[in-house]
Amino acid sequence: MIDEKTGILLLSHGSRLDDGEEVIKAYTDMYREEFPQAIIEYGFMEIRKPGIPETMNKLIKGNDLEKIIVVPVFVAHGLHTKRDIPTLLGIESDYDEEAAHGHHHHGHDHDHGHDHGHHHHHHHDDDEEEFEFDGEIILTDPLGIDTRLYDIIKDRISEHL
Ligand code: NI
Repeated sequence: MIDEKTGILLLSHGSRLDDGEEVIKAYTDMYREEFPQAIIEYGFMEIRKPGIPETMNKLIKGNDLEKIIVVPVFVAHGLHTKRDIPTLLGIESDYDEEAAHGHHHHGHDHDHGHDHGHHHHHHHDDDEEEFEFDGEIILTDPLGIDTRLYDIIKDRISEHL
C-alpha cells in the first residue's frame, strides 16, 4: 500500500551523459502521476548526482517514513546490485566476496573508467553525504527476465527489418 510512511527510490546506474537521467526521471514522473500520494525520488549508484545518500535524505527529510523501497532499474544483478548498492544503503548483502574472487569476478563487468573496488568498505569518503534512517530498507530485484521487456527487444529489432 502506498502511504505517507513509505518512500520509494528508483535507482539508475549514473552516467556523465544526460540520457540515463531522462529515462529514470520519466519513470519517476510516470509513477508520481499514477500515484500522486507516493513519496518517490530517483538517484544514481555512481558518477552522477544525486547519489544514494543524497536521495535517501531527500526522502527522509520532512517525511515520517517507516520503510524505503529501493528499485534498482538495472536489467540484471551484478556487482552493483549485489555488493555496492547494499553497501551504500548500509544493509546486508548476500554477496560472497570469496566465491566471487574464486570465479574471477572481482573486476567490473563494464568499463566506465573508474574502479569500483574503492567504494567497497568506505562509504565515508570526504564528499560523500551520509543518511540516517531507522526504518526498513528494502532493495528489490532488478528488472530481470520478463516478457514485457522481451516485447521491447522485439520492437527494436522489428524497427530495422
Ligand atoms: Ni558501474
